Formats: sequence, structure tokens, C-alpha cells
Amino acid sequence: MARIVITGGAGFIGSHLTDELLGKGHEVVVVDNLHTGRKKNFVAHLGNPRFEFIRHDVIEPILIEADEVYHMACPASPVHYQSNPVKTVKTNVMGTINMLGLCKRVGAKFLVASTSEVYGDPLEHPQKESYWGNVNPIGPRSCYDEGKRVAETLTENYRLQNGVNTRIVRIFNTYGPRMLFNDGRVVSNFIVQALRGEDITVYGEGSQTRSFCFVSDLTAGIIATMNKVDFHGPVNLGNPNEMTINELAKLIIELTGSCSRIRFERLPKDDPTRRKPDISLAQRELGWKPTVDVKKGLMDTIKDFERRISDGEK
Ligand SMILES: NC(=O)c1ccc[n+]([C@@H]2O[C@H](COP(=O)([O-])OP(=O)(O)OC[C@H]3O[C@@H](n4cnc5c(N)ncnc54)[C@H](O)[C@@H]3O)[C@@H](O)[C@H]2O)c1
Repeated sequence: MARIVITGGAGFIGSHLTDELLGKGHEVVVVDNLHTGRKKNFVAHLGNPRFEFIRHDVIEPILIEADEVYHMACPASPVHYQSNPVKTVKTNVMGTINMLGLCKRVGAKFLVASTSEVYGDPLEHPQKESYWGNVNPIGPRSCYDEGKRVAETLTENYRLQNGVNTRIVRIFNTYGPRMLFNDGRVVSNFIVQALRGEDITVYGEGSQTRSFCFVSDLTAGIIATMNKVDFHGPVNLGNPNEMTINELAKLIIELTGSCSRIRFERLPKDDPTRRKPDISLAQRELGWKPTVDVKKGLMDTIKDFERRISDGEK
């Protein structure tokens, strides 16, 4: 049994990771400031003696015993990370320094949740880990993209300079139960609009592509990365099954049985046109690949959203 700290453990991906790791018999300490995370996401574990929650902002140092740290804290959706861009940079830079410093002191393994956004609007397709990216350093997404790039730089340098045993995972678009309704992400937007019978808003012509990974596939990949010996990444974790935004909208209308229609709106600045991971490194090194079919994953997500809407969640 390991003592595992999960920063951002009250959020979407972090809470699924919490469930998985508790399920494997570990002790889990969630460290979260509840900016985009919710107590609802871990309330089921409150009576579990192997679970602990600490309300804490990672931009401040924390001293805590740990064998492993999964550093997930950072708002992931543009509406949230752009609402306070300076704070987003601080979370990625100071938060990552603080958690790496902790790992250095207590000798814990460290894994940072980086993102496909480090590739920016990629000029290479699909994106391999060796691609350096095409990022606008002063654009509206830069607080997140550049913040994560520095988080990677810090992680690699704490490894090389201080001997911290680190991992970097580059997460591509992930979806599943517990995503926030109003976070502007395409899967949650479309499902909420379809369930409410509202128009489905597609930005641009809808021909831009994304690849969507179901959250249980992703958490399996993250845990496999942490457990792999002598492996530091960066490694892409995502589903290479690329689809256009129009295809996604039509599939969600079909699966919800909705009468919603598709409405086209202007494309936001710096919205990447194509996004697809090359996961050959994860397949080779971790023996990992996604297994959940998109229809099944979307149905699980739709059921969760239906339940939350009927519980009165806005
Ligand atoms: N969801 C995706 O598709 C995706 C894609 C790429 C990368 N990621 C990365 O994975 C991680 C988790 O993403 P998510 O989708 O679960 O996002 P989320 O917004 O649901 O969760 C982030 C969590 O971090 C917490 N947090 C934010 N700032 C904090 C701070 N300063 N101190 C302490 N806690 C803080 C939030 O309260 C929340 O619980 C993030 O680092 C994100 O950048 C996610």
C-alpha cells in the first residue's frame, strides 16, 4: 500500500484517479482548493480511513508525507483557466515547484498532468512526443499552454538536477462522468444542449478534429505511467480515434434521441484545427491503449448528466 497525494483530486480526472487508487488498496490524500473541483466528487470516500481531503492551494508550499504525488491541480477548461490567467500561470509554475520540492524532500515519485496543448496549433499530424509545438506565447490560451510547458521544464530539471523520480503525461481531450456542465468543453456542451433540446453550437464549420479518450482509459494510462520503472516520458495519453466536431454533434444527438439542431458560430482565436495523439510510445513502453468505444463512453457520460440534471444541477 502506497501513500498517494493527488493534487486536483476533487476535479474531473483527479476524482476518477482517487476512486481507482483507493480501489487498489492505497491511501489517498486529495489536496485541492476546490476552484473547479467539488466535494460531491469525493463525498463517497469520507468515511474511508484510507482517504483524506486537505483544502489547500498548491501555489503555497505544503509539507506532507507521500510515496507518490499525482500533480493534477490546474483548471483544464478555457472558461476557467482564462478567467484568471495570472493565477493559472502561478498554479502551473509555483504549484509545480512546490509539489516537486515536496517530492525532493520526502523522496516521493512525481507525475505531472501536462497536456496536448503544449503542441499548440500543431504543424505536425498526428503529434508525437518529439514534436516541439506551435504555441502563441501571448495568445488567450498561453497562460495554460505555456504554463504547462514550464511545468514540464521544471519536472525534467528536478529530475536531472535533483534526482526526483518524475513522469510527464501529455493528456489529450478526455471526457466522462463528472465533467462540469458549463465549462465550455465540447463534449459537455453538446450533451447538455442535446438533453435540454437546445441548439448545438458548433464553432467554425465543424470540420476541425478532436480525439476523445474516455476517463477510465486515461486513468489506467496515468497509473501505468507512474508504475513503470525507469520511464519518465513525456508520453502522450489519448485516444487516436479522430472525429470531426460535426460527427460528434450528430452522434450525441443520436445517442440522446434529442430534437436539437446544429447551429454554427464564429471560431474562437487560436482554436487548433486538428488534434490527434500518436500513442505508439505508450503502447510500446506501457502496453497501454484505450479500449472504451466512443458510443459506450458517451452513453455513460450522458446517463451521468441526465441524473445530475434531474437532481437539479445547473
Ligand atoms: N480534461 C482534459 O481533457 C485534460 C486534457 C489535458 C490535460 N488535462 C490536465 O489534467 C488535470 C486535471 O484536469 P481536469 O479535467 O480534471 O480539470 P478540473 O478543472 O476538473 O480539475 C482540476 C482540479 O484542480 C483544482 N485546482 C485548480 N487550481 C488549483 C490550485 N491552485 N490549488 C489546488 N487545487 C487546484 C481544482 O479545484 C480541480 O479540482 C489538469 O492539470 C489539466 O490541465 C486535462
